[in-house]
Amino acid sequence: MKKALMFLLTLVFMVPAAAQNKFVGTNTCACHNLPKQGKQVDVWKKSKHAGSFETLKSAKAAEFAKAKNIAGAPSEAKECLDCHTTGYGEAADKTFKMEQGVQCEACHGAASGYKAIHNKPENKEKAVAAGLIAKPTEKSCLSCHNSKMHEVKAFDYKKMWEEIKHPAPKG
Ligand code: HEC
Ligand code: HEC
Ligand code: HEC
Repeated sequence: MKKALMFLLTLVFMVPAAAQNKFVGTNTCACHNLPKQGKQVDVWKKSKHAGSFETLKSAKAAEFAKAKNIAGAPSEAKECLDCHTTGYGEAADKTFKMEQGVQCEACHGAASGYKAIHNKPENKEKAVAAGLIAKPTEKSCLSCHNSKMHEVKAFDYKKMWEEIKHPAPKG
């Protein structure tokens, strides 16, 4: 009972804070490229997520768009940008660049509310209350890894996570 109440309270505080958050873009996450952090930015840059916007300029993208009767360039179509970029149509700061594709905040939550505090271990709960998704799950992957718009590979979380994992060094 107490647990359930705590959970409800967490939700009440979490939702409004997270709802006001703006996307700030991967360039703001540069601290995560320090070796002691685990170089998450480098890992991400090498992943297909970083190039997902560029993909929309390919011949294959034009083909997919045509098949869906989408007029105009796929790189300008909401139907494509929803999954090939981060937080499309939502509030963003000037530092945010849609061209950087599926960025940290696509999985970890828009960061304007937590970016300044989440680096301190003692702020862990505060950061989560301010919108940080510290442990994204398969559910967040499936919001894009589905065939609603075009056919995608069957999603095998273990295998796919292995390709993009970016752990912090232990100890
Ligand atoms: C905001 C949408 C979005 C979310 C959320 C997302 N992905 Fe992706 N993912 C994409 C897109 C779009 C591509 C294709 C990029 C390209 O090829 O240009 C992709 C590609 C990939 C690839 C490369 C697949 C290949 O064909 O080589 C892997 C691996 C992957 N994602 C894993 C994950 C995992 C694991 C999660 C969850 C932890 C996740 N993704 C969450 C949109 C997303
Ligand atoms: C529901 C999310 C979603 C939407 C919407 C979406 N995509 Fe994708 N797209 C993905 C994912 C996930 C991948 C990764 C491929 C895989 O896992 O099979 C991908 C991959 C691609 C690829 C690379 C495929 C390949 O085989 O190399 C192209 C091209 C592409 N998308 C174009 C588009 C275009 C054009 C649109 C708009 C008409 C679009 N996508 C809309 C999720 C989406
Ligand atoms: C496609 C989704 C996705 C993207 C994009 C993504 N992450 Fe993650 N991230 C995850 C998942 C899933 C975990 C593992 C959560 C867990 O431990 O269960 C994780 C874990 C982490 C951790 C904790 C690592 C640890 O071992 O404690 C950090 C730090 C992190 N991500 C930072 C970043 C940064 C910085 C970026 C952008 C450069 C980024 N992530 C991009 C999904 C993502």
